Amino acid sequence: MAAGTESLAAPDKLQSLGEHAAACPHCRLAETRTQVVFGSGSPIAQLMFVGEAPGFHEDQQGVPFVGAAGKLLERLLGEIGLARADVYIANVLKCRPPGNRDPQPDEIEACQPWLFQQIELIRPRVIATLGNFSTKLLTGNPAGITRVHGVAQDVVVGSTRVVLFPIYHPAAALYTPALLRVLEEDFRKLVPLLGGSEVPVMPPASVPPPAAAPEQPAGTAQLGLF
Ligand code: URA
Repeated sequence: MAAGTESLAAPDKLQSLGEHAAACPHCRLAETRTQVVFGSGSPIAQLMFVGEAPGFHEDQQGVPFVGAAGKLLERLLGEIGLARADVYIANVLKCRPPGNRDPQPDEIEACQPWLFQQIELIRPRVIATLGNFSTKLLTGNPAGITRVHGVAQDVVVGSTRVVLFPIYHPAAALYTPALLRVLEEDFRKLVPLLGGSEVPVMPPASVPPPAAAPEQPAGTAQLGLF
């Protein structure tokens, strides 16, 4: 926790943590990033999403999930009656890996304290991990997303007990459209975990397919999504 913030309320502490993170020097990505992408959304959210790492557009704008994967995330949220402002969105890495390569183990380790402090301050009821990197980090288990998606787990992050709910990364459905149905189904399972009643299944014909456009310029796609 940043020094001198002990007496602040949690949302103010989160704001202060973000200001602190903006100058983070703790790994090599500090040399190539445009800016730190700390996180965005409600500091008192019941539902938090944790993705992988900022891509090109996030690095430019300083906000997570603003590219094609973010548009799909917003659409999936809308289908369960939520908007971006209702949830908190962050990533395992706060800085863009060059060319959108996979996060390296030492980068994940260096960045982990920011994410864990975000979770401790927000204290969400449910954390939806998007893809392999956040799922493996927060479950502490090497089982990949294909095996564990769509099933809730109880985990303790620092001193915070949360329901962790692994979901495919939205970018995976942009590359493999058949995964869209799986993502939609897993998103619907979030509703009862948040204390709401089940969302009715929409007939497939009423759901337009996602834009097939890649998130990034050719050759810079984020890998490791499955
Ligand atoms: N993919 C991620 O994992 N995070 C982002 O912020 C954008 C794309």
